[in-house]
Amino acid sequence: MNGIFAHPSRKGMVIDMERLIHSALMARERAYCPYSGFAVGAALLAKNGSVYTGCNVENAAFSPSCCAERTAFFKAVSEGVKEFERIAIVAQNVKEGKIEKATPCGVCLQVMLEFCDPDAFEVVTALSVKEYEAYRLRELLPHGFQREG
Ligand code: THU
Repeated sequence: MNGIFAHPSRKGMVIDMERLIHSALMARERAYCPYSGFAVGAALLAKNGSVYTGCNVENAAFSPSCCAERTAFFKAVSEGVKEFERIAIVAQNVKEGKIEKATPCGVCLQVMLEFCDPDAFEVVTALSVKEYEAYRLRELLPHGFQREG
């Protein structure tokens, strides 16, 4: 689960688990979460070595809010990237300043299923760059909706 990935655009650079989680931690600082007080950051590693970050962006009307994971996926797909290795997620209860474990909501899992092989794609929920749990998408969404053919 702790794979090292070569970065094609920068010779010698590797996107390892620590680096990916660190990117998620940085993205969490940009969370816009005045309603929930729950700041989430995500870092999505594409198969080409690129990393797309995302944070949750809330709204006074609540339903237009977007989770950190979907922000990262939509950034990547809108840039033409559709093949992914893993996503790292970090969440913080802002009021208490406490980092909490967060696994993606069902809507985000369904978005992941659209683009990722559920038996290969890894969902990493992290408390720090060294403390994390990794799941295959299939474990978190065993029977997600998929069109046949
Ligand atoms: N949230 C995420 O961004 N990702 C998760 O995995 C769980 C929940 C956001 C949605 C909302 O802005 C806030 O956290 C509280 O649910």
